[in-house]
Amino acid sequence: MEGTGPGPGRPTGVVAAAARLAGRLRLPADKSVAHRALLFNAMGAGTATVRLDRPGGDVLSMAGVLQALGAVTDLVADDVGATVITVRGGGTPAAARLPGDGGETLDCGNAGTAMRLLAGALAGRPGAATLVGDASLSSRPMERIAAPLRAIGAAIETTDGHAPLRITGRRPLLAMAHRPAVASAQVIGCLSLAALAAGGATTIEVPGPTRDHTERMLSWLGAPVHRDGMVTTIEGPAGFAARSLTVPGDISSAAAWLVAGALHPDAEIHLEGIGLNPSRVGIIDVLREMGADIEVALERGDGSEGQPDHPEPVGSITVRGGRPLRAIAISGDRVADVIDELPLIGVAMAAAEGRSELRDAGELRVKESDRVALVVANLAAVGALVEERPDGWIVRRGRPREAAVHTDGDHRIAMAFAIAATCGVAGTVRIDDPACAAVSYPSFWTDLETLSR
Ligand code: S3P
Repeated sequence: MEGTGPGPGRPTGVVAAAARLAGRLRLPADKSVAHRALLFNAMGAGTATVRLDRPGGDVLSMAGVLQALGAVTDLVADDVGATVITVRGGGTPAAARLPGDGGETLDCGNAGTAMRLLAGALAGRPGAATLVGDASLSSRPMERIAAPLRAIGAAIETTDGHAPLRITGRRPLLAMAHRPAVASAQVIGCLSLAALAAGGATTIEVPGPTRDHTERMLSWLGAPVHRDGMVTTIEGPAGFAARSLTVPGDISSAAAWLVAGALHPDAEIHLEGIGLNPSRVGIIDVLREMGADIEVALERGDGSEGQPDHPEPVGSITVRGGRPLRAIAISGDRVADVIDELPLIGVAMAAAEGRSELRDAGELRVKESDRVALVVANLAAVGALVEERPDGWIVRRGRPREAAVHTDGDHRIAMAFAIAATCGVAGTVRIDDPACAAVSYPSFWTDLETLSR
């Protein structure tokens, strides 16, 4: 359980084992869906509202950028913690386009998805803009989007392949067949938005599975976007009307409680209103394969073929603890399904009986931190038996001990090791930067208090 802070709501970062975990939670708005809901509406025709439960810092960075462009006109918090953001699009029903005349410097903070998606949207808006981010975001690879955007006619200057990015957009862009080397939903999203400003059919063929929020939301908005396996096709030029929606709870944040519930000997946790996109629920499959007791109830599907009512399915999840966990090996295409949950899965592996292994996860080294290095170092610090590999790790259960946890400001590392301590996989830990959880999960520490008995 979390120690008392120096002031209300200020986490100390000191976490010890909880005697029991129990309760019912709603989760903050899904980061991936929220970024798209805000940005796509900002490119649409007319006005829409986007309703988000307790949006994290990354989503607020996107909202701030869109406010600077004149697309976000109102942001109000209601008394139950939800935020309603009004977005006025810069496009027409025939031509999607961000508003603004150019010359802006736009701060994406810690949000990689915001920067990469915005780059694609700005590539089709005549005029120049500069995208900047914090130290972590400025160290992440941007050539994966800059090179294909140059190939279709936008001018992109990077700083040695990193942010700041200076983008000079134009219309029309060229339609072409892209074959990115990495299977990245951020790259698909970026190129799909640019393709809306291209003349003709663009295809994007990636080498593996990815989350499909871009394709779902653009086709829900009425844009001619289609996904078939690893290939996304967009017929440009195209536009759509802005459309209001409520963003579901984030399964990647829910993952903290799924792992906590599965690892803890005495736990029962109900999670409500969670996005259950099939490309995001790999964490449930992984934990079930390890032996966890998890029930899922679909509350709302994504409608029928054609024009669904909602772009994403939503449901509730219940996890009960007390079962022994088995080791697991994760590799290949399966990695994409759990890419953001791997720090938590590393902790689950350290609680399991036997030798667990992660392979083919080199992308983890270029997330908000080098997550392979940090998971391995922190697991070793808390007493697990762990070996680092270039593209993953091997983990066995050890003898839990107290430790200082280094996060490099990475939200997912902070939350994973808070869960390790809560469930006794670690001794009491002191997390160096507990506030960093807020980029995706601003109420993480209070929710941990609420569930801990
Ligand atoms: C995201 C895609 C993933 C994920 C990130 C969010 C998205 O990254 O790790 O947190 O919203 O498109 P990649 O697409 O680069 O793998």
